[in-house]
Parts: sequence; structure tokens; C-alpha cells
Amino acid sequence: MEHGIETLSDTEFMIGGVRFITPKGDLSQTRTTPEQVTILKNPYYLHQYARLRDRVAYHNVFEVGIYKGGTAIALALMFPDIRIVSIDIDPVDEGVMEAVRAFDLSDRVHLHYGASQTDRERIEAIISEEFGNERIELVTDDASHQYASSRRTFEILLPFLADESLYVLEDWAWAHWGGKFETRELRPEPALTNLLFEWVMIAGTRNDVIREVTIEGAMATAYKNSRTRFENVAIEDLYLRRGKTLEPI
Ligand SMILES: C[S@@+](CC[C@H](N)C(=O)[O-])C[C@H]1O[C@@H](n2cnc3c(N)ncnc32)[C@H](O)[C@@H]1O
Repeated sequence: MEHGIETLSDTEFMIGGVRFITPKGDLSQTRTTPEQVTILKNPYYLHQYARLRDRVAYHNVFEVGIYKGGTAIALALMFPDIRIVSIDIDPVDEGVMEAVRAFDLSDRVHLHYGASQTDRERIEAIISEEFGNERIELVTDDASHQYASSRRTFEILLPFLADESLYVLEDWAWAHWGGKFETRELRPEPALTNLLFEWVMIAGTRNDVIREVTIEGAMATAYKNSRTRFENVAIEDLYLRRGKTLEPI
């Protein structure tokens, strides 16, 4: 039982006595209750988050995209010394709130609903209320998966990241999965891959801002190691490009 995760089947696992379900297919009936937690992630990626702690022993976590609270609850159960602040554009989910209380996680899992990942004012207010002068050591963005929104979130959050910190983009590769992702109906906007291209260019120009980019399956991680204090970040100012403009795919 590595990292406290006990796999029961392809779609079920336990952490600290709590049952997690990874739904397949139709998500319309999914919910979280004190009896079971819905998570849109399989244990492989939770093990990845555990391994990332070997790199940066993160305590302050900011999650973008709560859905049914799966990742926030799982990480809080796996690591009793972390605190997770999460946002989602959706309205409050009472089932998730009840589960957080039932698992006695209310002091370490703080969920903010009705908050868009591009709403700078709201995000800054949440961070100031939740973290005060402390900095964020891990961001996990599993929200819209859209290039423009995710890019904006990175710009908003960069000033709040600890000198040494990790920034994870989940499901970055959707534009390369084919099938329904190949048509523009589901996701008409440019691929999230474009943000990774920009991360790579930042690593080329500002190795202190992004020291390393890793890709493991659907998870892309930027490792930041910089004492620079950022304010009003515009990503395009962080890399040189010989006067050319990136043409998003
Ligand atoms: C893939 S789910 C998150 C899954 C969750 N992290 C888990 O592991 O179970 C994506 C969530 O992002 C939220 N979302 C989508 N667009 C958003 C936006 N612009 N701002 C904030 N949240 C957004 C959706 O409402 C949805 O709940």
C-alpha cells in the first residue's frame, strides 16, 4: 500500500478509510458524500503528487478545479501536514462540503466556489485571506484546460509562488488524444500544449523562473526556483523569441 493508497479495482481505491470512485463515461450522476468521494483521477497521478514531494516538500497547495473534491480530499488524507485551498467556477456543492466536514478536514481543505480561474481580483482576495504572507508551494490546475484561461491563471499565481515551488497542469495533452478532442466542438480553443511551449521558452530565457519542465503522462510540471519577486506578470515578457510571435496550434 504505497503512499497510503489501497487499490480495490480499476475504478475504486481507499485512502485512510475513505472510498474513492473514478467514474468512467457519463459523469452526470457523479457526486461526493461522506460514504464515497468522486475523483477524476486514478491513483497513478496521486502517486505522482507523492513523488513530487521528494522534489519540493510542499505544504501550501492551491488547486484550480474542484469538481467533486476528489483531489483536494485525497491529497489532504495522504499528507496530514498540507493545507489545500481550491477554487471552482461552479456553485457550492453541499455534498463535497459535508464530506470535508465528515472526514474532519475542514481546517485543512478550504473550498471556494463561484470563482473563475481568470478572476484575478477574486483569486488574490482568496490567497490573501487563506495564506496571508505565506507562499504557495504547489499549484495544480485541473480546471478549464483551455490555453488562454490556464495561461491567465499562471500569470495571476506566479507572484504568489514560493521561491522553490511546483506548478502542475493536468490533462495538458487533450489536443493530441484524437476522437472527440480532434473536432473543435468539445474544445474550440487552442491546445493547452501552447502553454507548455511557452514554459519551455521561459526555461530557455529565464532559467530561474522555470528551472525544469517535466511531462509524465497527462501531467506537466514546472519547477520554479527563483528569488525574483513578480508583479503584474505577462508571460510573453518572460521569454525572448527573436521578434517572432507564437502561432498557437
Ligand atoms: C476536471 S474537473 C476537476 C477534477 C478534480 N480536480 C478531481 O480530481 O476530481 C474540472 C473542474 O474545473 C472547473 N472549471 C472549469 N472551468 C473553470 C474556470 N474557468 N474557472 C474555475 N473552474 C473551472 C469545472 O467546474 C470542474 O469542476
